[in-house]
This record gives sequence, C-alpha cells and structure tokens, in this order.
Amino acid sequence: MSLPNREVFAARRAALLERMGPGVAVIPAAPVFVRNNDVEHSYRQDSDFYYLTGFDEPESVLVLTNQHAEHRVVLFVRPRDPEREVWDGARAGVEGAVEEFGADAAYPIAELQQHLPDYLGDAGRVHCAIGRGHPFDGELFEALHRVRRRARQGVITPAEIVDPGVALHAMRLVKGAEELAAMRAAAAVTAAAHRAGMRVAEPGRHEYEVQAELERVFRRGGAERSAYDSIVGSGPNATVLHYRTNRRRMEEGDLCLVDAGCELHYYASDVTRTFPVSGRFTAPQRILYELVLAAQEASIATCVPGKTLEDVHAASVDVLARGLLELGLVEGSLDEVLQEEKYKPFYMHRTSHWLGMDVHDVGGYFAEGAPIPLQPGVVLTVEPGLYVAPDAEVDARWRGIGNRIEDDVVVRAGGAPENLSVDVPKTVADVEAATQA
Ligand code: GLY
Ligand code: MN
Ligand code: MN
Repeated sequence: MSLPNREVFAARRAALLERMGPGVAVIPAAPVFVRNNDVEHSYRQDSDFYYLTGFDEPESVLVLTNQHAEHRVVLFVRPRDPEREVWDGARAGVEGAVEEFGADAAYPIAELQQHLPDYLGDAGRVHCAIGRGHPFDGELFEALHRVRRRARQGVITPAEIVDPGVALHAMRLVKGAEELAAMRAAAAVTAAAHRAGMRVAEPGRHEYEVQAELERVFRRGGAERSAYDSIVGSGPNATVLHYRTNRRRMEEGDLCLVDAGCELHYYASDVTRTFPVSGRFTAPQRILYELVLAAQEASIATCVPGKTLEDVHAASVDVLARGLLELGLVEGSLDEVLQEEKYKPFYMHRTSHWLGMDVHDVGGYFAEGAPIPLQPGVVLTVEPGLYVAPDAEVDARWRGIGNRIEDDVVVRAGGAPENLSVDVPKTVADVEAATQA
C-alpha cells in the first residue's frame, strides 16, 4: 500500500478552503501529554491536523486562509535543532515545512504570537475547535487579544469563531480511494491478529496472553499502534462492554470476547469476535451466538445508500428481540418488546459508529433532527451483541454469557456493502475450527 503523497494533502487543504468560504482555519497539532514524572505518553498526531498535512510532529499549528494576499497554507513548527535532534530524532524545521509539506510560509512555533495575529486580522471568521480542553485555546485567545489591540490601526477583529468540523468532518466522513486502501490494509492486519488470538486462547492461559498475541501481529504487520485499548474478556468478563483489565485466567467452557483493532498509517480498524476457549460452543452459548450473528448479517445487509444508522440498528434490534422472545428471555408481544425496549438489559448499546482515522470517527449522525442517509464511501462498524449478566433473573443456563460480533463495512454505490474484516472467522464452524487450529 502506498502512502498518500503531497498532492493528496494539498487537495484536501484546497477542498477545505473552498468549503469553509471566507475566513481562516487554525488547526493545532495534538498536545504532548505527560504520563508520569518526565515520561510522556507516546505521541499520536491529531487526526484533523494529519489529514490536512501528513505532518506528524508535535508543537505545530496549521493556518489555512482565504484572506491573505500571498499565503493560503501556513505552518508553525519546531525549528531544526541539532542538539535536540540527537535526543528526539529529525525535525522537518521551517524549511521542511515549506519544501516537503507544501506550506506557502512557515515560522518557528515560538513565533506564534508574533505572526498569528497577522493572519487573524480582518479575517472575519475563525474556524478553530475551541472548548475541548486543548491548551491551544489560550494561544488563540491571546492572538485574538493582540488583534483587538490593533483596532485603532484599522484592523478588525474576527467576529466569529466557528467549528472547523462542520466543513472538515463532512470531508473526513466520506473516504477517498487512498483512505479506503489504508482501511483495507489495517483490516487485513487486524484479521490476521484475530485469527492468531483464537489459536492462542485455551483453558489455563490468561486474557493478556491473547492480547499480547494480537498486538504482536499488529506490530509485525506494520501497524503503528492499537486503534484503542484491546478488550479481551473471558467468561463473565465478556458481559462487561469495555472490559480492559485482561488479567483473568481462562477456564474450560468459557467464551472469550476479543474487541481489538490496529491503527495502520493513521487509519483504524475495529473488530470483535467471540469464541469458545475450549474449541466448542456449549449449546446455550451457540444459541445466543447464532442469534447475534443473524442480527449482524441483517444489519450488514442494510448498509446501502439511502438507509440510515437508525435502520442498521433497527435491523439488529428486530432480530434480537424476536430471538429473545422465542428463547423466553423476554416476555410480551414483539411490539411491546420493541416499544418498551425490553431487550435493553441484554443489548444496551447502539449497533454502529463511523470508522476512519478515529475509531469513533468524526462526521455527523443527524442533520436537522433526522438521521443522515448512508452514502457511498462512508465506513461504519456493525456490532450487535447480547450480554446476560451473571446475576440476571433468567434461566440459569443463559447467565454470564456475553457475545458481540463486529465488522467494518464500506457503503458502496448501487450494491452490496464491502466487509473489510471478512477474513476473520465468523460462522460457528469457522470459529470453532480457528480456535482449534
Ligand atoms: N472498540 C470500541 C467499539 O467497538 O466501539
Ligand atoms: Mn470494537
Ligand atoms: Mn466499534
């Protein structure tokens, strides 16, 4: 898979400038977070910033402007510093920001307050994501304050600060060909990891051993990192939606729920499989698993242009509600189960979210009060599950069984969706065979 080249990032910047209209967009890099004492969390660039630049260094700010006489694209970056580069590795510097990353002008980040006000003056509208706890908020307010002080020189302070996500996240929601290629590659690595995890799991092993095997395959496959903390929940832990302790010793007869996906070249995958640790589903486990599988297949078939995430969710809920009634896990008429959400003690989450650079990717879900229709190029997860708590007031044979099945699906024009994670075993026979391989 080839990485996006300079032209791809330039085209995205041009498209954003056109969509946002008059004004200036200011997009800061992700902050560095301290982990403990003098150790930092591993750095991961902000998705919006990377989408527009391909630049992965911290302490950077991108300015896109329709208002300046000569500049459209401006970068503030860390300057070259041979002494620091011995410790932390090479920097592009201001020269690299122009020559390699396509900026019309670049400045050292330490000069932000010297130059940013020049770009904000008379801009009318600033597109900047404030109010999310990013330390850059203070820098923006300081720069605006400096613009305000130029009022008597005839400089007009921007009257509006708007969310750049309105234009930008509508772009990120619909994936381009190069993005879909990256997501296919990420899903392929994740598929290999899930198959490896199924092989490793067995009674007596710990959840973290399965996690280690998955993450080994992620890294061997070239993935930079996991897209989120891996969930490996065996036995009763499979009923805990975001269980991440991953320390239990697995036992004969357990189901193991693995929700894990790698991030490759800034694109996430997000896949869940549930399998029997000892290689064979028990009868009640199999019944509930096949019910979730039927729900998932019904939802995947709904991932076509014009349908909505509400339709995708409703398809799963309908199958699950009928199944729960048939099994005696809920009571009443089908209408009652649906209207009164009687399925919720067993299925309490939604079926889908957008997937892309962020695992819970950006892009609106509703517009003007109505769910937005699926369109070709959007990628979503389809992840129904059933979770019967160990102390649920139901027939004892169902208690403590949790399972979820999650795939990554691309909506395509005029046809069936593409399942990016199709290579992860999913039928009862394939899952049992994979755990025994
Ligand atoms: N792994 C997080 C999720 O499935 O949404
Ligand atoms: Mn997941
Ligand atoms: Mn998910």
